[in-house]
Amino acid sequence: MTGLQGKKILFGVTGSIAVFKAAAWVHALVKEEALVTVIMTRAATRFVSELTFEALTANPVHVEMFGHAVRTPMAHISLARDADCICIAPATANTIARLANGMADDLLATSVLAASGKPVMVFPAMNCNMYMHPATRDNLQRLRELGYIVVEPDAGALACGDEGPGRLPEWDRAREQLLACLCQQDLAGQQVLITAGPTREVLDPARFLSNRSSGKMGFALARTARRRGAKVVLVTGPVSLEDPPGVEVVHVTSAREMYEEVIQRSSQASIIVKSAAVADFRPAQAELHKVKKRSAPDSLALEANPDILAELGRNRHPGQLLVGFAAESRDHQEEAGRKLREKNLDLVVANDISGENTGFGADTNQVTLVDHQGAHPLPLLSKEQAADRIWDHIVTLVAK
Ligand SMILES: Cc1cc2nc3c(=O)[nH]c(=O)nc-3n(C[C@H](O)[C@H](O)[C@H](O)COP(=O)(O)O)c2cc1C
Repeated sequence: MTGLQGKKILFGVTGSIAVFKAAAWVHALVKEEALVTVIMTRAATRFVSELTFEALTANPVHVEMFGHAVRTPMAHISLARDADCICIAPATANTIARLANGMADDLLATSVLAASGKPVMVFPAMNCNMYMHPATRDNLQRLRELGYIVVEPDAGALACGDEGPGRLPEWDRAREQLLACLCQQDLAGQQVLITAGPTREVLDPARFLSNRSSGKMGFALARTARRRGAKVVLVTGPVSLEDPPGVEVVHVTSAREMYEEVIQRSSQASIIVKSAAVADFRPAQAELHKVKKRSAPDSLALEANPDILAELGRNRHPGQLLVGFAAESRDHQEEAGRKLREKNLDLVVANDISGENTGFGADTNQVTLVDHQGAHPLPLLSKEQAADRIWDHIVTLVAK
């Protein structure tokens, strides 16, 4: 289950060369079990036939408002009434102009008017000169004033050979925008600082000490917080994950670098979630040159890294909410409770790293939320779902 499952999306497709990308978006939405109904403009059907979207959605595609080809009587009203949101991708300069002027000259434009009060997302896609033309800029501004969500296109090489803004975004960014438009903005106004991933402690130029953290849980927390309206800074150790769209990402390597970046940003944060698996120790000495097998020492001297969470707990400002993670292979709740009290935290997410489908590297997680009221176990969930449940709990703590 994802935030898109069961959501009714009225998907408007207009006559842009980027129509082929929209087909991939619709495919991705259907895979996440969203209920997609497509309206195409006549121009759009010159690029790709209705059959493509009919096959992808297993639903009739709507194009005409009049005549024999009408699929549903009064479709312009009923399609809009049924939808949770309208997504127009790609949106041509022409359709943007029509919508900005409140025109109702085809099924898509009429349905948008009939959907008054529902979220309408517009993804412009066109040549960069068309996009930068003052008429298009004015029309997009008018759409924003009307309450439409206009998603800036990507910049880069365009199908026409020009280079500049006008490309339909990649699905990952579009998906985040859709999810944001469909979920409650209950973290709006919050400045959230999240840490993720492992740290690496240098032994010599070829070797380091680290741990098995993949960063997936912290990245899921960052994505979901952004979606729910927060301004998010993510400080992450080395991971092989894409930066979440709309999140300020700070890349660090060692525990000491993470310490510097987190402490420096902590005073501006209203909520801090420390999900990184920071190395407790580092080699007492980092060798300048690779240690040869023949001269390897019998033992390795270690020294302690700074305890970032403990320091945040000591210096927290009034109203700041502090959340830690406890990755444990046994006695999760006891350890989490100890950490909660000793480090002056509001919540500890006890993370079971013993199972195959939980903890490090897995796409799912089974966590228990431990606060000063007690323990709240959650079922096995995807990391994104677990992140949402953690934010649900944090929202209740913020409200207290
Ligand atoms: C090959 C080709 C590609 C086009 N690509 C775009 C485009 O990416 N964006 C755009 O705004 N218009 C584009 N157009 C122009 C639109 O198709 C034209 O303005 C049409 O009237 C749009 O109608 P609609 O907004 O009802 O779909 C393209 C036209 C052609 C022939």
